[in-house]
Formats: sequence, C-alpha cells, structure tokens
Amino acid sequence: MIEQRDRGSRQVVSPVSAAEVAATRTDLRRASLLPPAVYHDPEILAYELEAWFADGWVCVGRTEDIRLEGEYFLTSLCNENIIVVRDNDQQIRAFFNVCRHRGATIVKDPNGRVPRFQCLYHAWVYDLDGALHMPRFCDQLEHFDLNEWGLIPVNVDVWQGFIFLNINNNAAPLLESLGDMPQFFDRFDLAALRRGQLIEYDVQANWKAIIENYSECYHCPGVHPQLNKITPFNMGEWIDTEGPWRASWMPVVGEYDTLTMDGQMTEHGRELLDGMTEDDHKKVYYFVVWPNLLISLHPDYLMTHRVVPIAPGRTYVACEFFFDPEQMARPDFDPSDATEFWDLTNRQDWNVCELQQAGTASRAYTAGRFTAMEGGVYAFDVKVADRYANDGVVTHIEEISKADASAKLAGRIKRRAIAG
Ligand code: FES
Ligand SMILES: [Fe+2]
Repeated sequence: MIEQRDRGSRQVVSPVSAAEVAATRTDLRRASLLPPAVYHDPEILAYELEAWFADGWVCVGRTEDIRLEGEYFLTSLCNENIIVVRDNDQQIRAFFNVCRHRGATIVKDPNGRVPRFQCLYHAWVYDLDGALHMPRFCDQLEHFDLNEWGLIPVNVDVWQGFIFLNINNNAAPLLESLGDMPQFFDRFDLAALRRGQLIEYDVQANWKAIIENYSECYHCPGVHPQLNKITPFNMGEWIDTEGPWRASWMPVVGEYDTLTMDGQMTEHGRELLDGMTEDDHKKVYYFVVWPNLLISLHPDYLMTHRVVPIAPGRTYVACEFFFDPEQMARPDFDPSDATEFWDLTNRQDWNVCELQQAGTASRAYTAGRFTAMEGGVYAFDVKVADRYANDGVVTHIEEISKADASAKLAGRIKRRAIAG
C-alpha cells in the first residue's frame, strides 16, 4: 500500500509481503516465528519507524521532567529531533527541533530551562508555544506572515504522567487510541509517582526481540533463577484487553512481598502503592503497550522500559523506577534492592537477546516455532505480521483457535504466565 503523508510526505510501502508472514498469521500450533530478515534488514526497520512509530502514539518521557514553564527535554523519534517543553500556560508542547530559516538545529542541550528558543545560527527567536518573533531584516519581506513561520508542532498528549507524541499528527486522541487500558489503571495515580532511578542500556539486538523476550517466561528458570524463585515461570494469568496493549500478572509466592533482591519491601522503607487493592497484593503486573512501552507494576513500585530502535541490531532501552514521593522522603527509603534486582534481570535478558540477534543472522537459521509457553510472543508477532502484510486483515488469535475444533492450545496458553 502506498500512502501519501501530509507534512513530511513520506511514502510507506511495506517491504514484507503477506506471503512472507503467512506462516506467522495462523494458529499457534502451526505458526512459525517471524522471518529472520525482520531482525536484520535496515529497510524493514525504516518501514517500522515510518508506518508504526510515526503514525501512532509513542511514549517519550514523563511530565515530572518538565514541571516548570520553559523546562524542556529533547527526544529522538523516527530519526527526528523533537523538543518537548512546558509553555507559559503550563501546557506541554512538542516541536521539531528545526529552525524555519535555514534549517539549523535550534536547541543542543538535551534538557534545560529557557525563556524562549533562540537559533544559534542567525538568532531567530521562537516563544515556548512555537511562535516566531519578527526576525531582523525581515520586516520588508513580502508574503511573510509570522503566523506561518512558527516551529512545526508535533501532537502531544499525556496519560498517567507519561508523555506521548504522534509525529505525523494523524492519530486518534491518545485516550481513544489506548483502548480499555486507561480503565485498568484508573485506581492508580501513576503521575504522582517520582523517578527514583534511570538505568540506560545499549542492547545489541533488534527492538522486537526485546519485546518478545518480555512477553514470555519460558526462559525464566534458566536465565533468571532469582526472579523465578519469587515469581515462578509457570504461574500467572492473562488479563483480557482491548486495544493496543496486552497484560498479564504473576504471583509473588511464599514469604516474598515483591520483586527485589530479597523479595521484601517494608524493610526498605516502602509500602503498597496507593490504589492497590487487596487483590493486587503479591502480584506483579506486566503490560506491553504498542509499540515500545513496557510497564511493570509491582506492589510497591512502578518500572518501565522504553525500547527505542537505533538500528536493526541495536536498541536503546531506558529502564526507569518510580516510587511514592512520601515514601521516598523517609530516611530508611532504599530503592537499590529493586533497581539492582532488575538491573541483574535486565542484563540477563539482554544477554540472551544478543545471542538471538547473532544467531538469527546465520544462513542456517529459518524461522522457529512457538512453544506452548510463548503465547505472548505469538500475540506480538501476529500483530507485527498483520502490520507488515498491510492487507486490511486483522488476525484474531482466539478466532483462529476456535476455528480449529481441536486447537485448545491457544486457550490454555491464554492463562499461562508470559512476562519476565
Ligand atoms: S538557521 Fe536559524 S536563524 Fe538562520
Ligand atoms: Fe527475562
């Protein structure tokens, strides 16, 4: 399919045909994993960025980073340099970091606070809402309406403290786009939480391999002995979802309270987060939000992974930990048992993702098969395959299963643990 875009007009043609992903878009018992090329081909990554990341909402940060007027941060999305700023009316705005004069990058520092933006080249000045001031030696120009020469805006919206951008400015409103996910989180005020730590990773693996890895716990007994002790790999439930998200939970077993080095929280000055019901105790919730946000909600803290593709075999991952600010203020507050636990677990994951990235480049590798423990990977890969095929057909996983009277497998998988 060829689509002509508005501003930026980029043509988007899928480099992966429906025939090439037909083996993935079938019942799990017969399905194959995605074709190996999708982890390695730069043309395929370019398509994913343009057709998926630029066309929808992508989380780029948190509102707590720009609390005051003029506070901003830069973010890279779909190879575009974007300014995200709080303006003088407390509104969060986003702009392409490109001067309208001769196109220089305007802001170089990755974050900061400014009264306005001033281009370093010929000093054109833009307000925080993007409006251009009359530049020097321009008042005699003909057909030069200042209103038409402000910074080019990017759609921005906020949910639970997460800032999302839609570069092509063509997506439905964020809340609508998130399906029934916001309802699930209604009992929590995640915007009130504060970042305790950011850990950044440069992973030598394709971004989809990282999402796939998060979507199953088949690997947990061998790769994560520490995690598997607290949340056993074969326990947990899927949560029914509608929209661009998938969710599951895993039980925290035995004497443990949460996922940390010692499985405890009160010893480290933490309690249950506000909004946790009795039913939430001793559970870790895992959410995959299309395309690249992973939310892991623990009884006493929130962890997120933003998975940002850099190259087919390289991904930046920002892993962030958020806590209740009142608990953070306590003298005995110590997040290190949580952050060290997940840093260890993350590194264990990146190691196997990098091994997969290396192996799938071999001429010897052909797309493998899903096991009965990989329903989450299957669900993600089917979504990806549908989007490559771009033929208007949405593969309904459960319908596929129902269509095959003997295929009870997907139904069983739906109740298996997926995350870790
Ligand atoms: S390029 Fe920005 S003022 Fe000239
Ligand atoms: Fe893992």
